[in-house]
Amino acid sequence: MDVDQGHGVSELFKAQCKLYKHIYYFIESMSLKCAVQLGIPDIIHKNNQPITLPQLVSALDIPVSKANFLQRLMRILVHSGVFDTTKMHGNQEEEEEGYVLTSSSRLLLKDSPTNLPPAVIAMLDPVLMSPWFSLGEWIQGKERTPFEAYHGMSFWEYGKRNIKFINNLNESMASDSQLVSLVVKEHMEIFESVDSLVDVGGGTGTLARSIADAYPHMKCTVLDLPHVVANLPESENLKFVGGDMFKSIPSADAIIIKSVLLNWSDEDCIKILKRCRAAIPSKDEGGKLVLVEMVINDKKDEHELTKTRLFVDMEMMLICNGRGRNEEEWKKLFLEAGFSHYKITATSGLNSIIMVYP
Ligand SMILES: C[S@@+](CC[C@H](N)C(=O)[O-])C[C@H]1O[C@@H](n2cnc3c(N)ncnc32)[C@H](O)[C@@H]1O
Repeated sequence: MDVDQGHGVSELFKAQCKLYKHIYYFIESMSLKCAVQLGIPDIIHKNNQPITLPQLVSALDIPVSKANFLQRLMRILVHSGVFDTTKMHGNQEEEEEGYVLTSSSRLLLKDSPTNLPPAVIAMLDPVLMSPWFSLGEWIQGKERTPFEAYHGMSFWEYGKRNIKFINNLNESMASDSQLVSLVVKEHMEIFESVDSLVDVGGGTGTLARSIADAYPHMKCTVLDLPHVVANLPESENLKFVGGDMFKSIPSADAIIIKSVLLNWSDEDCIKILKRCRAAIPSKDEGGKLVLVEMVINDKKDEHELTKTRLFVDMEMMLICNGRGRNEEEWKKLFLEAGFSHYKITATSGLNSIIMVYP
């Protein structure tokens, strides 16, 4: 390569470094998973003060000979912002470094109401990671998804046959819903004058439960696949219905859907949206559909936020032929399904609240 034409040597090294970073991105994910599996966030939290490397070694009950490896694991996680370090005074008044939690690793605490460890474990499970190795072959082949190409069956079929796997994934979605409940609580005006609500594809009911608790007069129903809702505890105003949203959705004043439409193709989304449209009252009678879903806005959003949404979009492509959508793409779906207008409200998280009206 002629380095004098166009690129200087330093540009060349920068470009090489950037590519190496891309090659090694997975190391951040796997290091994070390792920290969660070892329970490091909880150990730091229980220590009540910054924890030194020897203290961490002892709390993990690992051989001292492994301290060097642990230090390197912690170093990369500090560099990625999962943990941080702070200076502290040791016994002999010399300065020592101790590890502390950051706002990200606080979400990884087992007892935190918004605990995310199930998401880390589930999303980095070999079942979901392995299909990435056949992405190129899939693009050239005929299978619907890389997941199907690798596992020989659809993601949904796999879930039906592997209850432990799907339970872990549902637990991870439930922890995401804990966070989203906080956002929805900020927008509770949405539910004023709503006497009945169905959460379509509502999983184990985390979001519906928080709405049912806030509005005791509201009759809330969670519709999900029979094996997902089997034996879940109900309450006075929260019921679970096992069914198929493509076949039938119970009638209600309002329907809420969170992180479901991103799992499906446009054709399938239109089918689901038409079922929703048929299940709610007309515009004059106050019928509404509330979507809590991602809206990709790469022109206006911060680079990091868009990057995370694009990661989710790719994951959906991999497992279930779903996708992330921008506003134009959403609008097309709503109009084709017979809705007349919509309003998007951005939240500080990955999802927006989209109100859709008949
Ligand atoms: C990504 S999860 C979202 C769960 C929940 N809304 C949340 O955000 O925590 C998608 C949900 O759709 C459900 N689902 C998939 N196919 C369905 C169908 N045909 N009818 C009803 N629910 C379905 C899955 O079981 C799963 O709970």
